[in-house]
Amino acid sequence: MKIMHFLLISLLAFVFWDQSQTNAASNGAGRRPPMGWNSWNHFGCSVDENIVRGTADALLSTGLSRVGYEYVNIDDCWAEQNRDAQGNLVAKASKFPSGIKALADYVHSKGLKLGIYSDAGSYTCSKTMPGSLGHEQQDANTFASWGIDYLKYDNCFNGGIEARKRYPTMSEALMKSGRPIFYSMCEWGEQNPATWAPNIANSWRTTGDIQDNWDSITSRADQNNQWAAYAGPGGWNDPDMLEVGNGGMTIEEYRSHFSIWALMKAPLLIGCDVRTASQEITQIVGNKEVINVNQDLLGVQGTKVSQQGNLEVWAGPLTNKRVAVILWNRSSSTASITAQWQNIDLSSNVVVQARDLWAHRNLPTRLQGSLTSNVEPHACKMYILTPLYG
Ligand code: GLA
Repeated sequence: MKIMHFLLISLLAFVFWDQSQTNAASNGAGRRPPMGWNSWNHFGCSVDENIVRGTADALLSTGLSRVGYEYVNIDDCWAEQNRDAQGNLVAKASKFPSGIKALADYVHSKGLKLGIYSDAGSYTCSKTMPGSLGHEQQDANTFASWGIDYLKYDNCFNGGIEARKRYPTMSEALMKSGRPIFYSMCEWGEQNPATWAPNIANSWRTTGDIQDNWDSITSRADQNNQWAAYAGPGGWNDPDMLEVGNGGMTIEEYRSHFSIWALMKAPLLIGCDVRTASQEITQIVGNKEVINVNQDLLGVQGTKVSQQGNLEVWAGPLTNKRVAVILWNRSSSTASITAQWQNIDLSSNVVVQARDLWAHRNLPTRLQGSLTSNVEPHACKMYILTPLYG
């Protein structure tokens, strides 16, 4: 009897240990939304090792690494069309002649991390390189041996196999590779990944591909908003990478894009050419006060809390009972927008100090019950409210 008892307990202990080994939320990555850069939105398939090195240098020289940007992520088109004789992925010699390991060493020497891309299918979306379906462990081991810190895992050419079968396989392979690798699922939100990915991945796309225009960012924000309850430390909803600085939107639109992504606890992956970005652009993505909202350790995704036509209030709780609030004017004329305490989880008698995160100043008077401001078309105001008493 005692032996049976012992065997049963050993079996249970093993099952729990084994699960913790294969649960991405326990890989230690992504306790806060990841911050960094990705090559796709600006460079597409023309990414090469000089761009990657130059971007690592620029993250340091612009000061962006100091405010938290650490991942330098290579997207699609980095590999040769065919695997080698042993079935390994091979870096494309014409674009990455030094190889990925050398690039990882360079990026690490700057105190940054290197990310790479593959696909849960037979090819990646560009069809210029193989996918990892059926090669998960071999590829995860390759990435680990190169010193990769982040994997974006796409969804093209998947042979109609269920996402819920394909994505966990790579999650387990990464865990077994022995290196903590942030696992970013790029399933485009097709099978509602927020409901099943938190045990598998550190982030999951909730939308199709972003474009550098207003309709694209407003619709992506709304789609991502539905899944807020599923996000938290270790696993985040991903409405796709930033377009700030790519030239298709106005400065106010880019500021709105960045503010809402930060409040939604989205990954903050810069998608422009950091090497040549203007100061106006680096000041948007480098706004430390807005970044602090994104990186707040409470890790609760802010949501749309009220709406009158195209005038919206978004808000979410922060540590120390503070509240982050955005007044977002999605209309085409200047308008007054009000956040009511009852909509942002504050009791009506609470008095707050409000700080404007874009003007970098505290509002001169303390507020009770509501906050109102005029907001320009397609612009937003973003605040942190700190309760004083009440
Ligand atoms: C898909 C992804 C994009 C990008 C491209 C690369 O469309 O959703 O983010 O990675 O593939 O081909």
